[in-house]
Amino acid sequence: MDCLEKFEKNLAYHYSEVLNYPLAKPYWIYVSLTHRCTYNCQMCGVVKILKGYELDGELLKRTLSEIGSWKWRSAVVFTGGEPFLRKDIFELIEFSSGQGLVTECISNGYPIDQPTAEKIILSGLQNIAVSIDGANALTHDAIREKGSFDRAVRALDYLVRSKKKEGRGPQISIWTTIMKENVEELSQIIYIARDLGVDCLVYHPVIVAQDDMQNTSPQAPFWINSQQIPTLRHQIDTMVDYHKNNGLIPFLHDPYLWIRYFDGSLRREEWKCNPFVFINIGPDGEVRSCGSSFGNLKDMSLGQCLVTNESFEARRKMKNCQKPCLQTCWSHPESDSLEFIVEEFSRELKSKPPSQKVKYINKALSTINCYQKLLKKYV
Ligand SMILES: C[S@@+](CC[C@H](N)C(=O)[O-])C[C@H]1O[C@@H](n2cnc3c(N)ncnc32)[C@H](O)[C@@H]1O
Ligand code: SF4
Ligand code: SF4
Repeated sequence: MDCLEKFEKNLAYHYSEVLNYPLAKPYWIYVSLTHRCTYNCQMCGVVKILKGYELDGELLKRTLSEIGSWKWRSAVVFTGGEPFLRKDIFELIEFSSGQGLVTECISNGYPIDQPTAEKIILSGLQNIAVSIDGANALTHDAIREKGSFDRAVRALDYLVRSKKKEGRGPQISIWTTIMKENVEELSQIIYIARDLGVDCLVYHPVIVAQDDMQNTSPQAPFWINSQQIPTLRHQIDTMVDYHKNNGLIPFLHDPYLWIRYFDGSLRREEWKCNPFVFINIGPDGEVRSCGSSFGNLKDMSLGQCLVTNESFEARRKMKNCQKPCLQTCWSHPESDSLEFIVEEFSRELKSKPPSQKVKYINKALSTINCYQKLLKKYV
């Protein structure tokens, strides 16, 4: 991304928070295509609700083209349930990429046989993630279902081979949810990722209620308790060491914060989400970030959902969240501080030719002035 574009986006997220108004469009747009699934994993709240609901393809396409028209280059992540159970999944992927949207999918791997893997590689997706929750079948299958580990590993293998054969294709990732059941073997999953030849391994801590992530609770059966914290620390040390020498694990925040998350001492000052960065569209059409719904896509457009009274109220509550959830993509630290935004822009500007520098500085100043005027008027 060009430094001026990055600067303007960071400012838009920054001032959206300051003014409590969606001047920025959401970057991460999670679309839960169905809550049907092949499994019923222990920690997953999704498949226990809204089973009979699915948005129809035409409404989804209308929404995707609305997102495309924002020209914000948002990332649409198709999830579920199991998104590959939808018959129109490839049509939706193609449509979404056709709108210029970064399009991603998360799967448990069950439906990904060799022909499906080949289709995925050529589909226009930019990232395909498969969940692996244990370093062996015993752990993974206990969390998910008998046979699920082998199927997930096989799916990843088909994907990696098809990508090699085609010489192109999406980033292939493993997603691992950190919880009590797998804490002892988290770092061993690195070797599965390495041996399969996937592009990255993303860890994120378990949450308790997926529609209200503030509801973290040490009483949940899969929560890492105080006796297991030293084990978690040791696992993080190993991951950090591996990452230093080999990459593979894109830490989007300091992984040692996971310890504070599980021991209940994590505070907003250390990690916070930006309520304007992400939204989730449920299979019933409800749009939310965290907590209560902003509105329903069956009644209004996505843009309208983002400015309902309910959306302002939900974001107000999010801004006061006392139990940050540490979900990988919900934060936007690069837009938290105005000073940081300006410093980063100035640093990156140095490599530009003099004539472009002047143009960019003028444009940047005029953008900041506009926001300052808004600030004076409304705050
Ligand atoms: C809800 S699943 C949907 C996609 C697909 N069925 C799968 O399992 O990958 C999306 C991701 O959420 C993770 N997940 C499930 N329950 C979770 C929880 N309570 N906290 C955090 N992540 C969770 C899954 O492991 C998976 O990586
Ligand atoms: S496979 Fe995914 S959606 Fe299905 S129950 Fe497990 S985590 Fe939930
Ligand atoms: S940090 Fe944000 S997304 Fe996470 S629980 Fe708090 S309000 Fe919800």
